[in-house]
Amino acid sequence: MSSAQVSSSKASGSILIRGGRVVDPSRNVDALSDMLLDGGLITDVAAPGKLDAAAKKLRAEVLEAKGCVVCPGFIDLHVHLREPGQTHKETIRTGTLAAAAGGFTTVCAMPNTTPVNDTPEWSRWMQDPEREASVRLLPVPAATVGSMGEKLTDYAALKKAGAVAVSDDGKPILEDEIMRACLVAAAKLGLPVSQHAEDTRLTGGCSMHAGDVSFRLGLRGMTIEAESQIVERDIRLLEEIERKEKLRPHLHVQHVSTLKALDAIRAAKKRGLHVTCEVAPHHFALTDEAVFREGFGYETSAKMNPPLRPESERQACIAALLDGTVDAIATDHAPHAHHEKNVEFERAPNGITGLETALGLSLRLLHSQYGMPLGKVLSLLTNRPAGVFNLSGLGTLMKGASADVCVFDAGKVWAFDAERSLSMSKNTPFHHHAMQGQILWTIASGRVVYSAK
Ligand code: DOR
Ligand code: ZN
Repeated sequence: MSSAQVSSSKASGSILIRGGRVVDPSRNVDALSDMLLDGGLITDVAAPGKLDAAAKKLRAEVLEAKGCVVCPGFIDLHVHLREPGQTHKETIRTGTLAAAAGGFTTVCAMPNTTPVNDTPEWSRWMQDPEREASVRLLPVPAATVGSMGEKLTDYAALKKAGAVAVSDDGKPILEDEIMRACLVAAAKLGLPVSQHAEDTRLTGGCSMHAGDVSFRLGLRGMTIEAESQIVERDIRLLEEIERKEKLRPHLHVQHVSTLKALDAIRAAKKRGLHVTCEVAPHHFALTDEAVFREGFGYETSAKMNPPLRPESERQACIAALLDGTVDAIATDHAPHAHHEKNVEFERAPNGITGLETALGLSLRLLHSQYGMPLGKVLSLLTNRPAGVFNLSGLGTLMKGASADVCVFDAGKVWAFDAERSLSMSKNTPFHHHAMQGQILWTIASGRVVYSAK
């Protein structure tokens, strides 16, 4: 990212953000205002000039935000920060620096670490100040021991240790009885079950979407049904549990990539079931054509799971973002080292980095190309994800809320340079791609954790 630097200032002093366009979808606010932050909280939002005296008294640092958008810091429901155990790919420190550079002030960390985060001890370890996270890290520990899909973890103890959901992430829970037990146990504690929807019995040996491109490359492909059938099965379980147990389980479907799965979610929402879902920027920005590299064959930086799909599925994701079926934009930030990705396509690990390109792709595509109002785009990055994982007091600029704020230039078009990414890994298909919207400052709990100046 340009000449950007991350501030290492430890103190959460007072800050006046002056003259910006404050967009706070949690309260339907879009107005020119000043904002005062003090003691890690938002202490006031008022008409331009009205807070000058108070700011002077506090000797507040002044950030001039004229011409910029000021909004709640973004919330990512789905990141992989690789700690414990895979620190050659990323650490909590570097992953959260990348998060701050992308405007995120809260990230929810998936459990496929080494070892798997399936205990309160590891969940607490991840949140320990010794990890040096620059933004808030909320753990999403495993739903089953070792993510083996057999025995439930201790949800009550995990919740006490800060878990905001449970998930077996890349290892979906296939056994109906186990998934039912997860949903029941989580419902009793008000925890969402976040599911990577993939019937892995149908995807063994597959490395991309099953279609024209996989045929051309001679690669075995994953079908759309491998995703949609698990979503449909999970929704049936929700219905059954609501009917028989008088509980209200919450299913959150991760990174949906197909029309069939989106249709099932849309219909379930209409029936009043508690289903939410997220879409990743790469699924609305790219198609499986990105896997094909002219003159070389394939591109492992476009390999992830779920895979990139054809244009019809990309359009379905965009339509579901526009009509409100999708609750959140989540990155599935999945760093991998160069030597791991620089191998034959089928041997390369799944995943791409995503924290620093989420806003740029969302504004360029959803806002500028597909006409989604700015407030709606920001809502998918702030108050709506907060609602999905019940993060009360986050994703809002309400007075008294945590001073988690993002300031960006909404009109700025720039090219992403992977080499300048703050993530430890550079595995992205968006190197040199156009982005819209440049983050100028990210403030987490009242501290400037990223500054482009
Ligand atoms: O692309 C992916 N990367 N999908 C997953 O399910 C796992 C993730 C990772 O951890 O690298
Ligand atoms: Zn993931």
